[in-house]
Amino acid sequence: MIILRSISAVQKYIKKIKDAHKTIGFVPTMGALHQGHMNLVRQARQHHNKVIVSIFVNPAQFGPSEDFKKYPRQIKQDSLFLDDEKVDAVFYPTAEMMYPRGYLTYVNVESVSEKLCGHYRSGHFRGVATVVAKLLNIIRPDTIYLGQKDGQQVVVLERMVKDLNFPVKVKVIPTVREKDGLAMSSRNRYLTETDRQQAPVLWQALKLAKQMIVSGVKDPARIENAMRAHITQNSQAKIQYIELVDKNTLETVTECRKNFMIAAAIYLGATRLIDNIIV
Ligand code: PAJ
Repeated sequence: MIILRSISAVQKYIKKIKDAHKTIGFVPTMGALHQGHMNLVRQARQHHNKVIVSIFVNPAQFGPSEDFKKYPRQIKQDSLFLDDEKVDAVFYPTAEMMYPRGYLTYVNVESVSEKLCGHYRSGHFRGVATVVAKLLNIIRPDTIYLGQKDGQQVVVLERMVKDLNFPVKVKVIPTVREKDGLAMSSRNRYLTETDRQQAPVLWQALKLAKQMIVSGVKDPARIENAMRAHITQNSQAKIQYIELVDKNTLETVTECRKNFMIAAAIYLGATRLIDNIIV
């Protein structure tokens, strides 16, 4: 596996691949890799001649009181994982490279960035859209692989790709979960033992919602209340939001019909967990 540490090294490497008419599958990550990430990598490996992964803890998507400094960084372990999956190249940019002195350009995907998590994490999706736009311009992949785990991120990035005419296909891969249903996340390691035991309540609440819908319940408020009750009765979690929204616009739905997403964020201690399902 080739390790690329500068933008010019990536551009040279990409030019060779393009000249040879080979296809590129790209998986952007912030590292601290787990099976959720690896599943994206495996999908890319199956469908492309070359697989490129980026590892960059992007300062632009962290708020001032968020965990940018403490976000896990484990480049050696990550490289071993990627090597095992036969990734061709990993790109490790530095913040100075991506946002050099004088940097002024940001991508803001309006409306959908302000909903759900965006309401509580001001500027987060602007940071995500900006870094992914830059990575797409640097790497020029045929396909970018994203996880459904970050459902709103998928909506924001699909919109950006469409609106800005990026010549890339977006592939969304289902959420990979622990045995008890907790969605895998680099942040799960922040959970204390007690919090970890309670963490599956989020997925259980989403499953409960799905069951209610399948059995004919159409009122979002009833579903939301049942989810709230499940979470508060079975854990010490604080609910940040539970919302039933249109899966493309993220507007709140007034009746459960087709094509909507149930998304929720909870705090267990200081750890914020998110999860969602598409119904
Ligand atoms: P990160 O949290 O490292 O996630 C990288 C990719 O892995 C994202 O597309 C995310 O949705 C996916 N992913 C994470 N956990 C997953 C799981 N349990 N199942 C399936 N997919 C999972 O998301 C980011 O980084 C950043 O915002 C990024 C897009 C790299 C921009 O900085």
